[in-house]
Amino acid sequence: MAFNSLLKRADPGAASYNRPMHLRHSHRLPASFAPNPLTLALSKVRAEGKEILDLTLSNPTDCGLDYPSEPLRGALGAPEVLGYRPDNRGSAKAREAVAAWHGHSVAPEDVLLTASTSEAYTWLFKLLCDPGDEVLVPSPSYPLFEWLARLEGIAANATPSYWHERWHLDLVALEEACTPRTRALILVNPNNPTGHFLSRSEWEQVLEFCAQWKLALIVDEVFADYGLEAPEEHLPTALETLEPPCPLFVLSGLSKVAGLPQVKLGWIVARGAHAKALLEPLGFIADQFLSVSASAQSAALAALEAAPAIQAQIRRRLKSNLEELDRQLLSYPAISRLPVEGGWSVLLRRPALDSAESCALRLLEEAQVLVHPGHFFDLPGENYLVLSLLPPLGVFARGMAQALPILSLRS
Ligand SMILES: Cc1ncc(COP(=O)(O)O)c(C=O)c1O
Repeated sequence: MAFNSLLKRADPGAASYNRPMHLRHSHRLPASFAPNPLTLALSKVRAEGKEILDLTLSNPTDCGLDYPSEPLRGALGAPEVLGYRPDNRGSAKAREAVAAWHGHSVAPEDVLLTASTSEAYTWLFKLLCDPGDEVLVPSPSYPLFEWLARLEGIAANATPSYWHERWHLDLVALEEACTPRTRALILVNPNNPTGHFLSRSEWEQVLEFCAQWKLALIVDEVFADYGLEAPEEHLPTALETLEPPCPLFVLSGLSKVAGLPQVKLGWIVARGAHAKALLEPLGFIADQFLSVSASAQSAALAALEAAPAIQAQIRRRLKSNLEELDRQLLSYPAISRLPVEGGWSVLLRRPALDSAESCALRLLEEAQVLVHPGHFFDLPGENYLVLSLLPPLGVFARGMAQALPILSLRS
């Protein structure tokens, strides 16, 4: 539960840094490391030895998937991993595998390997921003942006997207949030946890917006292979655009593509002449770290060859859990779910008779069911709970069966 405990700490701006000098840490870090109320409650329930039905489970290696262990272990332990052949962009073999995986005319020389998508963000922030600069982040979204940005000495300005029959980027709000210090726009396609795929028309507007404001565009597509209920006009990948009018960097990695977060391999694809012109300075940054292990690079091809089979299992799991949710929701008309265009999460909408946090605490304490309150992802209001669709079907079904009566008590 590193995720729970990391997020939504005390306001990062409200630091009290009056510790003895030798214990003082920089203002980039949270002011307090006190766990949030849900993490505290979780530790208490665990200490009581009660079984927890974890509907936030998003670690694919804990979900009972069947991994092709022989080829993966063979590649992770191949003889070549005993030699050190540093290449700041990553080994040619691994980059070839990534380029072939993407298609869409991605060439190995357009790819730069990282140890994770999170690391890819930090390198792009170093590349594009000076301390005090800003990046735009649509909200709700993946909550690590704020900290990844702060740790680089920059600000992530969250700009609300809105729900009207589906999620929409608010281009006017993005424009209003732009300042002379804004350097990049980050998009997640499909977004986590809302599942929102960009529409083709949003994409056209975003490209125009970035060109006009001279922003780089960073598109995180870690969930792009997990479209579920996506509308016809969705943008399956930003890589469809061959020559964008601004620097475009597309991020992905084995964590979601092959369900292998522990291998620690992510990548950046530079798309178009503007982004490719920045590959040399980006390589300079990578050269200071050389953080991608020989094993991870050696396993890239085997992992990507295994990815279709692993993804097929994940997709089946997502669909079964969604069907189970729909079946159970038939008995609870006051509670509904939003469409899942893509990704591994579903948003449950309930009447907000108490705060989403109180509701999550109640579910944990009364039914030992763990869900995330919407505000962990900056979802507006108190209606939303966020569930992972990845838990084994039995766990998901029991969790919902125990949670829904409690949710409906106040509905
Ligand atoms: C949208 C998004 N991007 C990136 C990541 C992290 O990926 P990695 O394990 O490659 O750092 C996550 C993890 O949940 C995510 O949701």
